[in-house]
Amino acid sequence: MRETQLSVNDLVAPLFVREGITEKSEIPSMPGVFHVPYEGVVEEARSVVDLGIPAVLLFGIPLKKDPNASSASSSEGVVQQAVTALKEAYGDRLVVITDVCLCQYTTSGHCGVVSDGSVLNDPSLDLLTKVARSHAEAGADMVAPSDMMDGRVGAIRTALDGAGYEHIGIMSYAAKFASSFYGPFREAAYSTPQFGDRRSYQMDPANGEEALREVALDIDEGADIVMVKPALPYLDIIRRVKERFGHPTAAYNVSGEYSMVKAAARSGWLDERATAMEVLTSIKRAGADLIITYFAKDAARWLKEV
Ligand code: PBG
Repeated sequence: MRETQLSVNDLVAPLFVREGITEKSEIPSMPGVFHVPYEGVVEEARSVVDLGIPAVLLFGIPLKKDPNASSASSSEGVVQQAVTALKEAYGDRLVVITDVCLCQYTTSGHCGVVSDGSVLNDPSLDLLTKVARSHAEAGADMVAPSDMMDGRVGAIRTALDGAGYEHIGIMSYAAKFASSFYGPFREAAYSTPQFGDRRSYQMDPANGEEALREVALDIDEGADIVMVKPALPYLDIIRRVKERFGHPTAAYNVSGEYSMVKAAARSGWLDERATAMEVLTSIKRAGADLIITYFAKDAARWLKEV
């Protein structure tokens, strides 16, 4: 009689690869989530594969930042090396999706190129397409642009097609809100903006209609999967996107949503397992076809037990 069945097949596990470290280390603001050196990424992903989680979403933390995010598209970059290692180790058993953005790589911590204190949309597209192409060259199955610059899905699609990567998919962070729930992630990825905020490119949490327009644009430009992010405060948006477009829809259960449950559980205020499963089931009930979540491995284990 249960209408909504959460399955391990719905889950995507984020993975943070960090340059310049030798041992994996726990991210203080996100208990149970680790920075791993790229030499350790195959080992770190083993439990993901063994648990039957179909995909990872890779984030890179480089040693060097510069105004043009040059390490983001280097063939020797931390993500590029990790992708190659993962695909060599697991082949088709693991779908490797890469986050395409500049904020971990720019000195400004912004997702685009900065000039005179503002983030420039169009000059950022060129850099983003280079990043996406370098991920495809390294073997990524799908790229996930999270920058929210206008026109980047189309630009990346054209660049990938032109380089012979027609088969590489795009999961676009289509409706990404300027949210406080990214706090722990920015601490984990060292990507806090050095001035201002992301409201010139991310969306106002008050805007639902605009979210639908953003999604429509990304589908038009060639997005294979559209994402709503964060998930929990935006369940209505997930539902509207799914109903309006019937397109494959992802939801990102972001760092703050995770850390909030973890912190409350540690204080004995919430039951972690019951709360996390309720959250994930609700995101699926809202209409998400896949859920990117730091609870992926725990949820996969819990699903096996019931
Ligand atoms: C980078 C990016 C962010 C997240 C994913 N990609 C942070 C941001 O936009 O500031 C957030 C993920 C999370 O909070 O779990 N653009």
